[in-house]
Amino acid sequence: MPKYDFDILNDRRIPGDVKYQSINGLSDFIPMWVADMDFKTAPCVENAFNQVARHGIYGYQNVDDEYIESVRTWYSRRFSCEIQNEWILPSPAVMYSAACSIRALTKEGDSVLIFEPVYYPFAKVIKNNRRRLIISELKQTEGYYEINYEDFESKIKENNVKAILFCSPHNPVGRVWTKKELKHLCEICLRHHAYIISDEIHADLVCRPCRHVPIASLSDEAAAVTVTCSAPTKTFNLASVQVSNMIIPNEHIRKSVQREMLANCQYGVNAFGIAATKAVYTEGEAWLDELLCYLDESRTILAEAFPQDSPISVLKPEGTYLAWLDCRGLGLSDNMLYNRFLLDAGVRLHKGVTFGKAGSGYMRLNFACPHSVLKDAVGRIQKTFL
Ligand SMILES: Cc1ncc(COP(=O)(O)O)c(C=O)c1O
Repeated sequence: MPKYDFDILNDRRIPGDVKYQSINGLSDFIPMWVADMDFKTAPCVENAFNQVARHGIYGYQNVDDEYIESVRTWYSRRFSCEIQNEWILPSPAVMYSAACSIRALTKEGDSVLIFEPVYYPFAKVIKNNRRRLIISELKQTEGYYEINYEDFESKIKENNVKAILFCSPHNPVGRVWTKKELKHLCEICLRHHAYIISDEIHADLVCRPCRHVPIASLSDEAAAVTVTCSAPTKTFNLASVQVSNMIIPNEHIRKSVQREMLANCQYGVNAFGIAATKAVYTEGEAWLDELLCYLDESRTILAEAFPQDSPISVLKPEGTYLAWLDCRGLGLSDNMLYNRFLLDAGVRLHKGVTFGKAGSGYMRLNFACPHSVLKDAVGRIQKTFL
């Protein structure tokens, strides 16, 4: 018997909620865009928050041994990956970690590569830090995305790429990279002395039989050039709590990243983030396992509604709670697609082209909501387009 009820309809229409905000005065739509969930977090978080709140003293706080131990044992249990306590560097957010890592590992004007389509702040963080953005597009064959290794290696060579910003598992295409794929990618980076900044925020949200492999766990050589960005925030729906961790085995890199954080006067994470991390990493596993089963059913609902031969077909995600809808069969421009989904179907999605040119003709749908809401959205989309 399931212990947690993901079918409950929670009211998220509170001031400041990003996902549920109105757009041009319009609020009567199902919001399936921003990547957070409509489920309440694991009950252990509320208990942990209550304890912190009751304490009533919210002074400066460092992470303690229990916090570090909770991250270490999570990696050991969930990914069979043994990390050392001193490799763990807490940080308020994954994209903040990515920014600090880019500044620590490269100089202004250096080339940093990403694989598009990808989470759109990747391109921004590279450009905003005055690095050269190099794009290698993923290739898609029959609804399955892969790295184009030839293109990747030639771009690395041609542009003297110093680092790659990698998304694993991949948002938005939902791939969970295999060990073989990661090894190949790693070999290319090592051959050309490119650092790997691996954003693994979706690592826990993987659908069986796929398994997430932390890229740094492949070999000592891989670990020596990698910054892994990890967080409990996607997994346990804690985005606004602002807590994450970098895992950096290489001491020299770790010190450089720490210096970048200090240069930004960033000294750590907040008391609620510390409490939440300890709670979920020690008591949240049963909740997560049930969530993963629920999301598997959601994937099936989508796969049945939008099969491969339909003008809208879903690429069945191996991980994340984000579905990548191939809408090219509708023959609409990206703006038309967005507007018709929003205005005619009443479903707010993310435009695929936001994630890079290669996303044109696609839409990203966040399915982390109760099945009744997902079925309502699916029905609206079918009625509008099919
Ligand atoms: C791949 C990826 N990285 C980072 C983030 C944001 O993480 P943070 O809020 O910790 O910067 C997201 C959020 O959707 C994401 O999908």
